[in-house]
Amino acid sequence: MDSQKFREGMSQFTTGVVVVTGIESGSLVGFAAQSFVSLSLEPPLVSISPQIASTSWPRIREGRDFCINVLAEDQRDVSEAFAVVGEVAAIGWQPSEVTGMPIVDGAIAHIDCRLRNEHEAGDHTIVIADVIDLAVHDPEARPLVYFRGSYGGFASD
Ligand SMILES: Cc1cc2nc3c(=O)[nH]c(=O)nc-3n(C[C@H](O)[C@H](O)[C@H](O)COP(=O)(O)O)c2cc1C
Repeated sequence: MDSQKFREGMSQFTTGVVVVTGIESGSLVGFAAQSFVSLSLEPPLVSISPQIASTSWPRIREGRDFCINVLAEDQRDVSEAFAVVGEVAAIGWQPSEVTGMPIVDGAIAHIDCRLRNEHEAGDHTIVIADVIDLAVHDPEARPLVYFRGSYGGFASD
């Protein structure tokens, strides 16, 4: 499979954008991702797939707990800030009540996660996590959408 052909084919699938956050030595660490999946209701499980080359995931996984932040339509800059390899975004955040993991200011919702297991999958790792808690912060907000390598918005009928 030609990698360009693969990328182009996969980019036809629309996703939302999340930021995966954790704490290392008291400081925020995180990365932007579209590979977030809701997996199981009983027990409540979610999945995220960091690249093997990710510099932030090994730092996040040390603490076992992490937070998935669902980005709003007006948070392209937040996504971009968390997509710079090896750099920690200068973004406002608050600790979640249950795990203390960073909730990014302006996120539509956050999901408090605890690492359950990891599976190697080519150049990515499939991370499966228990959902410890979650909260919807703005039920009226519209999501940031990613399609064919570009950001966009969502309009319901
Ligand atoms: C919209 C969008 C979606 C992304 N999805 C993923 C993803 O699912 N997994 C991943 O590892 N990186 C993803 N990235 C890339 C990471 O955010 C980027 O490589 C980041 O800098 C991680 O590098 P670091 O962990 O080395 O800092 C995405 C980037 C963008 C802008």
